[in-house]
Amino acid sequence: KFTRRVFSGIQPSGGLTLGNYLGAIKRFVQMQEEDYETIYCMVDLHAITAKLLDPAELRHNTRELAAGFIASGISPDKSILINQSQVPEHAQLGWIFNCVARMGWMSRMTQWKDKAGKNAENASLGLFAYPALMAADILLYHATHVPVGEDQKQHLELTRDIAAKFNHDYGVDFFPLTEPVIKGAATRVMSLRDGSKKMSKSDPSDASRINMTDDADAIAKKIRKAKTDPDALPSEIEGLENRPEARNLVNIYAALNDQTVEEVLREVGGDQFGVFKPKLADLAVSKLAPISGEMARLMADPAEIDRILAKGAEQAREISAPILKRTYEIIGM
Ligand code: ADP
Ligand code: NA
Repeated sequence: KFTRRVFSGIQPSGGLTLGNYLGAIKRFVQMQEEDYETIYCMVDLHAITAKLLDPAELRHNTRELAAGFIASGISPDKSILINQSQVPEHAQLGWIFNCVARMGWMSRMTQWKDKAGKNAENASLGLFAYPALMAADILLYHATHVPVGEDQKQHLELTRDIAAKFNHDYGVDFFPLTEPVIKGAATRVMSLRDGSKKMSKSDPSDASRINMTDDADAIAKKIRKAKTDPDALPSEIEGLENRPEARNLVNIYAALNDQTVEEVLREVGGDQFGVFKPKLADLAVSKLAPISGEMARLMADPAEIDRILAKGAEQAREISAPILKRTYEIIGM
């Protein structure tokens, strides 16, 4: 009974990374071309949960993220592209879900534990509530599918728990049980400096990640310096076991080139990293340079980006306002 509808978002908390691109945006573009209505969001309300940002920086990041989406192939004619704070229903439904979600559920979120760390006393209440707002982002549109990286799997389970509890407590079948879409060779791109950490825009080390705005020299240098082991690449996938850094570089290659890991190893098995890394750097530059060039072009006209986001907000509210209204009615508001 629910329309096949995709919602997903990215925080404008810093520049886009190769992890965001391969783990999320590439899939966003594919699903836009498939049989779904697609809504993609700069989640600026989420971007201030870790720390309050400089206002000019947040505004810049939001526009740059919009430019990154469009430059990667998300078309404002085929998808609804929005900035979260411009659609007030996100925060409104977020509050309702703060009252549906249980403290125990929230304290079990591994991302909360990772991000708050040992200093939870000093973390913002928003960081703790983040997954309930994320559930609102998704369910506000009755989204049935959410393309995300591995790291978001637990938050999607929580979204289903919130939908199920709401439906059960009010005796309705109102919110769908949304499916995560996690697939491809790079659902978890790891740091270039430490194969046990995910590549993230919030990692303090710039050498740990490839930014979508990095130039060819920076990309080549980061890949050349990426942590690896002394062995040659295997020709079978089993040979990558217990070699997280090698595995990560091969995964990145496969995802960039739309190949499987097996296909890549058939070609590069036997290569030393001294040979493989330049191949990977060339591939990364050839795929990313057109995107970063287009991002720069779009960023030269910020007013046009703002117009696209204003139009997106209007389209989004046609879906979100009736769903919020019905939610309030169900609750007795
Ligand atoms: P970040 O961790 O860089 O702040 P976000 O939390 O804004 O990124 O995540 C945006 C999207 O990008 C999510 O779908 C997330 O799963 C995906 N993503 C982020 N980092 C990675 C990564 N290293 N590998 C794969 N996907 C990722
Ligand atoms: Na579509």
